[in-house]
Amino acid sequence: MRSWQGDGIWFGADYNPEQWPESTWVEDVELMRRAGVDLVSVGIFSWALLEPAPGRFEFGWLDRSLDLLHAGGIGVDLATATASPPPWLAHRHPETLPRRADGAILWPGGRQAYCPSSPVFRERSLALVEAVATRYADHPAVVMWHVSNELGCHNVHCYCDVSAEAFRGWLRDRYGDLDALNDAWGTAFWSQRYHDWAEVVPPRTAPTFANPTQQLDFLRFSSDEQRAQLRAERAVLERLTRQPITTNFMIGTGIKYLDYHSWAADVDVVANDHYLTAADPQPQVNLALAADHTRGVAGGAPWLLMEHSTSAVNWQPRNVAKTPGQLRRNSLAHVARGADGVLFFQWRASRAGAEKFHSALVPHAGPETKVFREVCRLGADLKAIAEVRGSRVDADVAILFDYEAWWGAELDSHPSVDVTYTDRLAALHGALWRAGVTADVVHPSTDLSAYKLVLAPTLYLVRDADAAALRAYVEAGGTALVTYFSGIVDEHDHVRLGGYPGAFRELLGIRTEEFFPLRAGERVRLDDGATADVWTEWLHPEGAEVLAAYADGPLPGVPALTRHRVGAGAAWYAGTRLDDAATDRLVARLLAESGARPPVAAPTGVEVVRRRRDDRSWLFVVNHTDGEVRLPVTGTELLGGASCDGGLVVPPGEVAVVREEVRCSPSNGRAPSWT
Ligand code: GAL
Repeated sequence: MRSWQGDGIWFGADYNPEQWPESTWVEDVELMRRAGVDLVSVGIFSWALLEPAPGRFEFGWLDRSLDLLHAGGIGVDLATATASPPPWLAHRHPETLPRRADGAILWPGGRQAYCPSSPVFRERSLALVEAVATRYADHPAVVMWHVSNELGCHNVHCYCDVSAEAFRGWLRDRYGDLDALNDAWGTAFWSQRYHDWAEVVPPRTAPTFANPTQQLDFLRFSSDEQRAQLRAERAVLERLTRQPITTNFMIGTGIKYLDYHSWAADVDVVANDHYLTAADPQPQVNLALAADHTRGVAGGAPWLLMEHSTSAVNWQPRNVAKTPGQLRRNSLAHVARGADGVLFFQWRASRAGAEKFHSALVPHAGPETKVFREVCRLGADLKAIAEVRGSRVDADVAILFDYEAWWGAELDSHPSVDVTYTDRLAALHGALWRAGVTADVVHPSTDLSAYKLVLAPTLYLVRDADAAALRAYVEAGGTALVTYFSGIVDEHDHVRLGGYPGAFRELLGIRTEEFFPLRAGERVRLDDGATADVWTEWLHPEGAEVLAAYADGPLPGVPALTRHRVGAGAAWYAGTRLDDAATDRLVARLLAESGARPPVAAPTGVEVVRRRRDDRSWLFVVNHTDGEVRLPVTGTELLGGASCDGGLVVPPGEVAVVREEVRCSPSNGRAPSWT
């Protein structure tokens, strides 16, 4: 791994100088210096300018831009520029265009119009990487390499004949022979048995439901094909350069089809893009989930926020501007949760193109604006907290997340379309957020031993080893919660027999004989006063104690919430979709039982997260409420907006970062013990 950290928290943006006359570049650097920017991502969409015709490279403008940035003391995260092929590629090689499941071609004119399995695209893109890396490997401005951009954002699934051939190759590697594939895909069903590899195709638009395992394998293949591009570009960069290599992931914004837990091994720093959903009244909660998941993908190490927005985006139906102070709260909340860099899309708002109404650090109205003033303030803030760089976030709780479980859970022909994978993830994480407790969102294969509480929402598909690890965790004294539609299938999407939730039946001490999904809008009551919707199931306790049962609905008297003592720990099960208040109560009970707790108790809406390095620790307090908050914290406040004299006072909408005075040392590796 190449080291990527600088002296403090990186601060910057995507910078697209090619959209502007060179006279503007001078002002750009001057304003960057004023704002404290020290890292910009350059060249992301520059292929068509850098290589105007096959094999003919024009680097002059990029040379001048990098020289200017370097003279201004600004580091460059240089793109390989392969994110979007130039029009000449599709013109000369129409076979590089991607096809949808129904056969429709995705034409050039937007971006990312290439088939991820195209050998022509691979060859041309690597030739570009080679040329860029050769030219700039020793340029003093370059501090990092940025492979492509959001790989698979628009072209993750291609169903063309080239992709079909690549899919067959991937399946041969996975299964070896057709008998194994036929077993895994369950092709005895519906006359689907394959006798020749040439008969196997991607799950193109079919008369009815395509084979679920065929679909699942195609999703795995598609993620792997995108990852292969990352690895191929990385191999070129590793050969020619020495700076750290990354690419921007899209964790936490609903992007489903890229298995980032497996990709993390291919980058020197996990970098993420996160955008708020304007329609979400509490977007800071989803932001926290995205950051906690990014940290989980990074194995707990610091990561880089490669993109977010200073204000509105342009690609949602209604693009809501950020309120004063929101930019700062958002950025510092990411840092609180482990980011050691805060970058945005983009430096200067474009005049032309599909993103001209996307916010930037320098808006159309120029630097005399609320946005640019807030940018400058944030730049100063990040300098003031440079010392937190390299520290790690304390978390007592793990939430298990597996992209394959997501893909499997949301395949078609299931008991209810209302069961979605991220629903319980967001509900449980939201309850923890309201309780002020930090969680790592991690892959089920992660070592769980240091966590006090583990939550497994909708872990529909689970491998034997991961189910066994959760059991071992509970036996050793851990507390776990599993929610409905978990443990149902193995990695081939074959049902685990003998009663649901197959893989977790013994751990949970229950056996479900039949699912009873609810009708749209139907609600049931539980005998503890909770309500629930979407899902019920006919569950029999087999060793578990019943904590709540249905009071009405299709299964009156049947258990809905159970708890099973296993070894030194306990495994809880929620067999229905509890309302938010009941979810909060359930999480409060789990916290009490497990001993997981917030770093400092604070009112709901005040985000408190601790970062720690060696024997030093910092407390981040983000006050999302309208009221002043007082917390029993002493130390040195680094941002200067809050007082910390005999307790910390944080005004409404403000952020505080406190270097804690009482030195704490890790006791069990996570929970602080005060000395
Ligand atoms: C990202 C992308 C950027 C820009 C941004 C707008 O998905 O990487 O290039 O399009 O969104 O929000």
